[in-house]
Amino acid sequence: MKIVTIGRGMIGGGLAALWRTAGHEVTELGRDGGDASGADVVLVAVPGDKISEALSAVTGLEGKTAIDATNVLPARHGDFPSYAHEVQSFTRGPVAKSFNMNFGMMLDKIREQRVRPSNWYVADDDARDVTEQLIRDAGYDPVRVGDLSRARDLENAVWLLMGVQPVGRVFYRFAEAGQL
Ligand SMILES: NC(=O)c1ccc[n+]([C@@H]2O[C@H](COP(=O)([O-])OP(=O)(O)OC[C@H]3O[C@@H](n4cnc5c(N)ncnc54)[C@H](OP(=O)(O)O)[C@@H]3O)[C@@H](O)[C@H]2O)c1
Repeated sequence: MKIVTIGRGMIGGGLAALWRTAGHEVTELGRDGGDASGADVVLVAVPGDKISEALSAVTGLEGKTAIDATNVLPARHGDFPSYAHEVQSFTRGPVAKSFNMNFGMMLDKIREQRVRPSNWYVADDDARDVTEQLIRDAGYDPVRVGDLSRARDLENAVWLLMGVQPVGRVFYRFAEAGQL
């Protein structure tokens, strides 16, 4: 898959490295932007209050499938129903929200775990397959918690995740009974 990450910091750069290892072709864009027209999927991993600024600097977004990894930390801004909807106002294509409920400093520890950690996501139907594949290729098990209408709930869930000690150093796993 051809992936463009908008943001190349802890999350954008960290996922880019994992996806390259899985065989994907990844281009990382920073705050100066660039072109995403060749992408099969775009990851948005910039500060939550900089989404519009960052996406304004990227060409070729129209119709692209996007995965929004942004969080509402330290505080929510703007009037969109969710940050994922703010992303969709630029791409006007299928959108998923994922990777916001996992910690960047743990990305290089995913594969050391006894079982695959889970990764909650919400998505438009047309973004589901690619999102599940990229979640798996990063080393997690995808757990769908709703469609894109639940994106705001998923964003707000991070406040609960931030309450789990030790902060930033945990994984979580959801599994059917008998599968743990
Ligand atoms: N860190 C985590 O554990 C974690 C976990 C889940 C989700 N998230 C979310 O993922 C997003 C990225 O987090 P991160 O930890 O990867 O951040 P980060 O390391 O600070 O990287 C931020 C990236 O955004 C880019 N960017 C684009 N426009 C920007 C602007 N106007 N101002 C500042 N930066 C801009 C930066 O560009 P340059 O490269 O040009 O500086 C940089 O590549 C955030 O929404 C965060 O809440 C973070």
